[in-house]
Amino acid sequence: MKQTSFPTFYIKHKGVNVLSIPFDSAFVYDEQFLQMTARLNSSTNYGFGEHNHKQLLLDMNYKTWSIFARDVGVVDEWNLYGVHPYFMSVNSMAKSVIGTLLLNSNAMDVHMQPAPYPSVTYRVIGGLFKFYFTIGDTPDEVTQHYTELIGRPILPPYWSLGFQLSRWGYSDTDHLKEVVRRNKEAGIPLDVVYGDIDYMLHKFAFTYDKQNFGDLPDYVKELQANHTHYVIILDPGIGIEKEKIKDINNGTYKALEEGKDMDVFIRSEDGTRLVGEVWPGLVYYPDFTNPITTTWWKSQILDFYNNTGFHFDGLWVDMNEPSNFREGNKAEEECDMESRWNSPPYIPENLLGNSLVDKTICMDSVQHWGKHYDVHSLYGHSMAISTYRALQQIFPDKRPFVLSRSTFAGTSKYAIHWLGDNQSKPGHMTWSIVGMLEFSLFGFPMTGADICGFWFNATESMCQRWTQVGAFYPFARNHNGGNYGGTTHVDQDPANFGPDMIASSRNVLLTRYKLLPYLYTLMYRASERGSTVARPLFFEFMDDDITHDIGKQFLWGPALLISPCLEEDCEKVEAYIPEGIWYDYYGGEKIESRRWHTILTPENQINLHVRGGHVIPWQHPADNTHNSKLHPYGLLVALDYKKEAIGELYIDDGESADPIERGTYDLVSFISTSGKLQIIAEYLGYKSAPNSRIDTIEIYGVERRVSGVEIDEGTITNFTVKQDEILTIKVEDSSFTYLTNHTIRWFSN
Ligand code: NOJ
Repeated sequence: MKQTSFPTFYIKHKGVNVLSIPFDSAFVYDEQFLQMTARLNSSTNYGFGEHNHKQLLLDMNYKTWSIFARDVGVVDEWNLYGVHPYFMSVNSMAKSVIGTLLLNSNAMDVHMQPAPYPSVTYRVIGGLFKFYFTIGDTPDEVTQHYTELIGRPILPPYWSLGFQLSRWGYSDTDHLKEVVRRNKEAGIPLDVVYGDIDYMLHKFAFTYDKQNFGDLPDYVKELQANHTHYVIILDPGIGIEKEKIKDINNGTYKALEEGKDMDVFIRSEDGTRLVGEVWPGLVYYPDFTNPITTTWWKSQILDFYNNTGFHFDGLWVDMNEPSNFREGNKAEEECDMESRWNSPPYIPENLLGNSLVDKTICMDSVQHWGKHYDVHSLYGHSMAISTYRALQQIFPDKRPFVLSRSTFAGTSKYAIHWLGDNQSKPGHMTWSIVGMLEFSLFGFPMTGADICGFWFNATESMCQRWTQVGAFYPFARNHNGGNYGGTTHVDQDPANFGPDMIASSRNVLLTRYKLLPYLYTLMYRASERGSTVARPLFFEFMDDDITHDIGKQFLWGPALLISPCLEEDCEKVEAYIPEGIWYDYYGGEKIESRRWHTILTPENQINLHVRGGHVIPWQHPADNTHNSKLHPYGLLVALDYKKEAIGELYIDDGESADPIERGTYDLVSFISTSGKLQIIAEYLGYKSAPNSRIDTIEIYGVERRVSGVEIDEGTITNFTVKQDEILTIKVEDSSFTYLTNHTIRWFSN
C-alpha cells in the first residue's frame, strides 16, 4: 500500500475555516482500501446512514459506523437498508454549517473521534474519494444545497399524506375488508391500504393467489370508488422453482421467461445466472442497472396491471438490499470465499455478520454498472428508478408513488422511504424520531416508521402513544409483521383496540388531516427548494446549544413543535420550548420559552405548540383526503413579539405530474403586521380547486381585547375573543376565498 502525507485543504465560509481536510494523518489510497481523516471544526455532527442511531447527535467518542446496504431488523446500531455517506457539521459559534457527502457506494466505516481534535476517519473498500461540500448559514440552507446536488425529492401525491394501514398476514380479501370496515366505521380517517406478499401466489412477483384473494381486484375497485388507494408490494427476486411455477398460468411464468430471453438477471463471475433465496424460494435477481431490465420490469408491471385488473395506485419495493436467505443466511457457502471481492482484505469494522456476503448475493457477481462489490448499495436505488419509470408509463399524467426500503443518496427523487422492520416496543418509537429526522437531513422529507411496530404484538397503550407520534410522521403508515417464531401477530389497526384508543386515534389523525394543507405546503417547498418537512429543533435554533441533542421532539417546518409521549404509561413529557413566543396549539395559551417544561400529557393527547411569527393554513378535516379537500380552509395566525406573522399555502390537484413545472397550482401568502392580516393570491394556476373558501381565522396573541373586526373594510360581528389574546373570526360570506386578495383588520376601542 502507498502511504503519503498531504498538505491541509481548507474550506472557508465567510472567512472562517469550516472544514479542514488536513491530509495530515495517514492517507491511504489503494484499490480495496482507502483511508483518510478530516478534521472538523465542530463536535456537533449529524447523519451518516442508514443506522438505528439512538440519539440525534453523532457520538464522537471513538465510535465507528459501518455503511453498507443490509436486510436486517431495526434493533441495534449496525448497518441497515440504505446508504447515505453524508453528515452535517454545525458550528454555532462560527455560525456555519457544512454538509459533506462522500459519493461512494462501496462498503465503508466512518470513525468519529473527539481528540486531539474532532475528526472523522473514512475507511472505504473501493471506488474514489469523491467529496462534495455544501456550506451555508443554517442547517436548512445546507439541506437545500445538498438536495440541489443529489436531486430534489418528489412531491408525493396528496392522498399519500393520509393515514395508511398495512399488514403482512392478511389471510384473504375478507380479512382486509374487515380491517377497512371496522376502521371506517370507527371514524378513523383512512387513505391507503396495502397488499403485502400475502396476495401473491407462492410469493411470486406478478401473480396473485386466486383462491384467497380472487376477489381482490374487484375489492380494489370498490376501495378506489370510495377514495381509498391501494398499494402493492413487489420484491425483486424472481422465483425459479419449477414445482411452484407449474401452478402459475399453466406453468408459464412470464416474468421469468421474458427475463431470461432479455437477459436481465445478474450473473455470477462464471457467467451463470446467480441464484439466491427470498420469499418465493430460489430466485434470480434482476439487474436494474441495465437499461434493458427497466424495459422488462415496466412491461411486467404494465401487463400485471392490465391483464389481471389489479389496479394498484402505487408500488412498494422491498428486499432490495438485495436480500438473500439462502442456506439459513449463510450465503458464504455459495460464494467463492477465495475471491478478493467476497473476502476483501479489509472488512468494515461493525458490519453485521462480519462479512460482505452475509444475507446478500456474492460480491463477485456482475452487473451492468460494474461488479456487485462496487454497486451493491445501489441495488435499491436502481430498482426505485426502474419502478418510478414503470409507473410513469402506466399513469403518464400522474406522480408515481414508490415506497422503497433500500435507498442511496438521491433516491428521494424517485421514491419515499419507511424505516424498516422495527419492533412493537417503546424504545423503537423513540428511535423512530431520530431515523425520520436523519432522513430529512438526507433529503427524504417523506418518511416514517411502522406505527405501533412491525415485529411482536403491540399493547394498546403503546399503540395509542405511537399513533399520536405517527400522526406526525410525514409518512403515516401502521404496518404489522406477519408472524414470528410461529406466533401470528394480532391486528394492530386502531379499530382493533378499545374505545379510548379508537377515540384518541381518531382525534389525532383528524388533527393531522386538518393540518394537511400546511404539511403539503412544506412538501412543496421540499420538492421545489429542498428544505425539510420534519425538522430537528437545531435546524431552527442553531444558536441555542440545548437544541443540538434534542431527538425526542421535532418540528413540522418552522412553526409546529411536536413533543410526544414516548413511553407506554407516561403521564408527563419533558419538553424544551425554544426561543420565541409559543402557543399551545389546542387552546392558544402562551408557554414560557427557552426552558424545559414538564407537561402533563393525558393518554389521549400529544403536545403541540405553535410558534409566534407563523401562519398555519388548515382545512376542516374529513374521513379521507379527497373529502377533506372539499371543505373550506382556516388560518391559524400566531403572532410573535412584534405582533407579526407570515405563512403560505400551496394547493394543486394532488396527483398530476409536475404541477410546479406546469404551473398548475395556487400559491397564497399571508402577512400579518400592525393589527391586520393580508391574504395575497401570489399565483393562481390551478383552475379547479374543489374549495377555495376560508371560513375561519384564528389569531393567537392579539394585543388587547379586540372590540371590532373589518374584512376588506366591511365591519363584521361574528368573532369571539378568549383570554383577551385569542381572536376567532368566522367568515360567513361564502365568496371569501383565497382566489382574491383580502385584508382583515382588528382593533380595540
Ligand atoms: C420485509 C419488509 O421490511 C416488511 O415491511 C414486509 O412486511 C415483509 N418484508 C414481507 O413482505
